[in-house]
Amino acid sequence: MATNRTFTMLKPDAIENGHMGKILDMIIQAGFTIKAMKYTTLSTEQAKKFYEVHAERPFYGELVDYMTSGPIVAAILEKENAVADFRTLIGATDPAEAAEGTIRKYYAESKGRNAVHGSDSDENAEIEGKFHFAASEIF
Ligand code: CMP
Repeated sequence: MATNRTFTMLKPDAIENGHMGKILDMIIQAGFTIKAMKYTTLSTEQAKKFYEVHAERPFYGELVDYMTSGPIVAAILEKENAVADFRTLIGATDPAEAAEGTIRKYYAESKGRNAVHGSDSDENAEIEGKFHFAASEIF
């Protein structure tokens, strides 16, 4: 059964390109409420840990370098059917394949620099949210 929370990061390219406000507005307009949020940076150790599932992939080093290259916004979002609806809102990993009207279609640069992260399951949403936020930072 679906839970009502997901986890997102606005990635360094989105922040660098000045898209933070527009992306947050799209998220809120789509009906998500923000239950936790921080504007921060990831250390190399944190990025390696967060993406450890991709450790054997050829792009892992590039991904860690990119995710530590500048500030990110991390957030926990709430909405009915949050994980699936958020993945619909952000679109496919590769912006070339992302549907019209999605965040990645508008704002992602490439498959690697793809503007935004969205959890792929309820289980990972919980793990990823706890990775970034203490209980006292979640509302
Ligand atoms: P996301 O789905 O949020 O989490 C895994 C990330 O790995 C993905 O976004 C991309 O940023 C990155 N990624 C996935 N596939 C590739 C690829 N082929 N080349 C470079 N980066 C990738």
